[in-house]
Parts: sequence; structure tokens; C-alpha cells
Amino acid sequence: MSSAAPAYYLTTPIYYVNDSPHIGHAYTSLACDVLARFMRLDGYSVHFLTGTDEHGQKVEKAAAAAGKPPKEFVDEVSQRFRTLAKTMNFSNDDFIRTTEARHITSCQNLWNAIKANGHIYLSKYAGWYSVRDEAFYAEDELKPGPGGQKIAPSGAPVEWVEEPSYFFDLSKWQDKLLRFYDENPDFIAPESRRNEVTSFVRSGLQDLSVSRTSFKWGVPVPNDPAHIMYVWLDALTNYITAAGYPDTASETYRTFWPADLHMVGKDIVRFHAVYWPAFLMAAGVAPPKRVFAHGWWTNEGQKISKSLGNVINPVQLVERYGLDQVRYFLLREVPFGNDGDFSHGAMMRRMNAELANDYGNLVQRVLSMINKNCAARVPTPGAYTEADRVPLGSADGLLPVMRDAIRRQHFHVALERHGEVVGAANRFVDEQAPWALKKTDPKRMDTVLYVLAETIRRLAVLSQAFMPDSSAKILDQLGVDEGARDFVRAFAPGAALIPGAVLPAPVGVFPRFVVEPAA
Ligand code: MSP
Repeated sequence: MSSAAPAYYLTTPIYYVNDSPHIGHAYTSLACDVLARFMRLDGYSVHFLTGTDEHGQKVEKAAAAAGKPPKEFVDEVSQRFRTLAKTMNFSNDDFIRTTEARHITSCQNLWNAIKANGHIYLSKYAGWYSVRDEAFYAEDELKPGPGGQKIAPSGAPVEWVEEPSYFFDLSKWQDKLLRFYDENPDFIAPESRRNEVTSFVRSGLQDLSVSRTSFKWGVPVPNDPAHIMYVWLDALTNYITAAGYPDTASETYRTFWPADLHMVGKDIVRFHAVYWPAFLMAAGVAPPKRVFAHGWWTNEGQKISKSLGNVINPVQLVERYGLDQVRYFLLREVPFGNDGDFSHGAMMRRMNAELANDYGNLVQRVLSMINKNCAARVPTPGAYTEADRVPLGSADGLLPVMRDAIRRQHFHVALERHGEVVGAANRFVDEQAPWALKKTDPKRMDTVLYVLAETIRRLAVLSQAFMPDSSAKILDQLGVDEGARDFVRAFAPGAALIPGAVLPAPVGVFPRFVVEPAA
């Protein structure tokens, strides 16, 4: 990648290491992975960050429950998130852990910068706290729980906390934040989340407790180690740590900060779109450019929770259906930003109808016809007809369409449009009936098969970000050079399969899922 390539920095939330990863974690990171891969193919110098959030009471309690010292416990659980990233073929450039020295230095520097600017003061916190959410709640935000006790809006239990605490003067940031949202209309997406955030800020902000004194597992406040930094201040800082903060003169920092996108679930939008830009502005650091908050998955209609025992393990899904099938399904099934429901029925339907029958069948029948009828070589096309320009033109037009959708994080739209071109190509096969041309007009058959192979080349180049392995298999079977698979080269004028080039024997790419009969 040349140094002139534009930079793109995107992040996942860092995941709590209180438990094993599940489908929700895999989903957020998958969306980022697709975006990262797509931007790289589109010529960007991408920095894709994920990692684990390892401090705070919630993790400390989980370690105690597991009967392990916190460090040993977080090492073990963090590793599971790394393994998940490998299993899911995530292409993250860095994996940050909040227990790393680089991060502790970064947190303490950010704290000092905010404090030096007069935005942190010492007082006492007396109020509600939810360990599960790691969040402070005002009395009027709580609702009555099933047993009459107060619970957080998320349904999490809360406890009364009274202790000395440092505060961040969030109440002074209302106007600045509203102005910032106004001046940066793309800062929060989708629209519904933007409205939620602006109305929260408009309703008035209270100063935020940013240190705790009743436990030890966290980053000590500089010069006052009896205080541990609020875990969200610690966690959010990971995004600048990984860009090299506090070394703001470094090449990495200057290239990648401010981040282009923080991808998060809708549950944590307030932390990212309210607290985080306020902390950064208070420290004199530029806020990120965009926060996208996606929806939540349920399982066969039910909320996913450990207590209901219906947590979906992404590794098991991959073992059952295949990696690219799962990657495809998660981003195709639900308009990105909305909530979605996972069901095995829907998974199998999409996998069979859209991958095996549509995309897979297109590739399979075209490649086998070429193998059988063109001596396993790229056929030599004659002059194109009007009809030939339809699949070729729509495959070319797909690049700008998908680019636009992906930049807006409309992953489902990108896949839908891709599927439409697959459909058009399948119709072209049926209309042109190359198998019949074999006897009547073999030259025309060669042209038809060449047009199809070229259409498939473009489709496979464009599906790489979503389904890297399967797309690579298709491109291998078309003999496309590994160096010619990025968008610039693949869509350059004159880029095309070379007639006469020898092709490997075709192999199926998207198997059908066959339900095994009950034994
Ligand atoms: N540690 C904090 C984030 C700190 S970021 C500076 C945290 N961690 S978490 O482990 O609870 O992960 C939260 C994220 O996981 C959500 O924001 C969302 O991206 C993803 N999901 C967890 N469960 C989910 C679903 N059921 N459905 C979709 N995504 C969900 O919060």
C-alpha cells in the first residue's frame, strides 16, 4: 500500500471478559471486518481494532466467581475472543487489552490532560450503580423490578453506592455537544439513535463520577491511587491508545486519529456518543468522526441471555453451516441498525436459496460448461451483443452501488444488490442457453460463457469482503491473479480474463444444507 493511500480507522467495542464470546460479539466484529476488508480492497490504508475490556467490578466479580486471580482470569477469557476472531476470519490489525502497559499509560495521560484543563474535581458519589451495566443511574431513570426492588432501564440490578469520587464536569458540555452533533450530522447513525442521543443531551446532563474507591481492579488515578478510574473512561480510551496516544506526534496517531468509525451495539451508544466526545474535547483531543449503533439479535424470538440458556455460540454455528455462510447470513438477514431474530430455519433458507441455488449454482454451471466445452480454458469471445452488455454492465455498476452502501454501513443493501446481479446473470444463462449453442453456434457459446465468466469475476471480487474464502475459491477457479483482486485493478479499463488461459477443474463453493433425517 502506498503511503498516499487514504487512511481509515475503525473499531469494535472492546468486549468484557466476564464471559465467553457469543453471537452478539461476533456480529459487531463481523460488520467491522467486512468494512475493513472492503475499504482495503478499495485502496484505503485501514487500521481495524478490536480487543477486550478487562477492568472493573464486573470482571473482578467474574474472576472471583471462577475462583481465579483477576489477571489469570482475564488472560484466559481474552484469549477466547482472540480465538473467535481467528475462527471468524476477522482481519483486525491490532487486538488491544486494557490491562496492557500501553493502555494504562494512555489512560493516565488522558486523565491528566482533562484534569489540567480543569474538568475533573474531587467530591463524593452517593447514588445508584449497576455493576452489570457498569453505569451510574439517576433515581428517575430506575424502574420497579419484579420483586419491587429498583432496576436499571436495561433490567440490570442496581446498588446504592456512597464513596469519595472524582467527577467529570459533564453538565458543562451540553451546548458544546449539541453544537458538535449539529455540525457533524453523520456523527451518530442511524437516525433513530441520533434522535435518542440528542434528546438525552437536551434534557440536561449531570456531572459524571469517574473514579471508584471500593475496589482495586483497574487503572489507578494519577497521584491518588486509592481511586480507580471509572471503567468506561478506561475502556473508551482504548481507541486512542491503539492510535499511539499519548504520542500525538507519532506517524500512527497523525494518520489514524480521529477514528473514522466506532461500531457499537445500541446498548452502549450513550457512552460513545455523549461521554466519549466530551472527555476528548475536555482533553483537547479531536472526537471520532462517526459512531454507528446496530441493533440486537434475539434467538428464535427470545432475548439472548445466559440465564435463559439460549446463548448462540458462533463457533458452533460455523461448524454446522460453514464460515462464509454464517458471515453472509448475519449481514443479509437484518437491515443493519435494526434488531434481528436468529433462527435455524432462516439460516438454512438463505444458505440454500441465495448461496447454493443462486450464487453457487451460477458459478458451478458456468465453470463446468467451460470445463467441458471449452477444453478447460477461458473461452475466446466474439463481438458482444446488446444482451451481453446487461450482465456485464450491471456487474460493473455494482461497485459504486456497493461502495455507497458499505460506507453508510448498509451491509444488507450491498448484499441485496449483489444478489440482484447474480439473479440477472442466472437469467442470462437461461435465456442464452449456452448448452444448446454448443451444436448450433459454438462461437456464440464461447462469447456467452466468456460474458458469464467475466460477470462472475466481478461478482466474486465484490463478495470478497463478506465471504473471503468462498470468493477466493471462485477467483482461483477463474485463474485471477491474487494481485489483481482489489477494486482498482479488477475494475480497471481493460481488466479481463485472458482468453485461452488454462483453468483448474471446477469445485463446488456453496454446498446445500441438507437436514439429516431423524435417526
Ligand atoms: N466493554 C463494553 C464496551 C466498551 S467499548 C469502549 C461492553 N462490552 S460487551 O462485552 O458487553 O459487548 C457489548 C457489545 O457486544 C454490544 O455493544 C454489541 O456490539 C455486542 N452485543 C452483545 N450482545 C448482543 C446481541 N444480543 N446482539 C447484537 N449485539 C450485541 O459493552
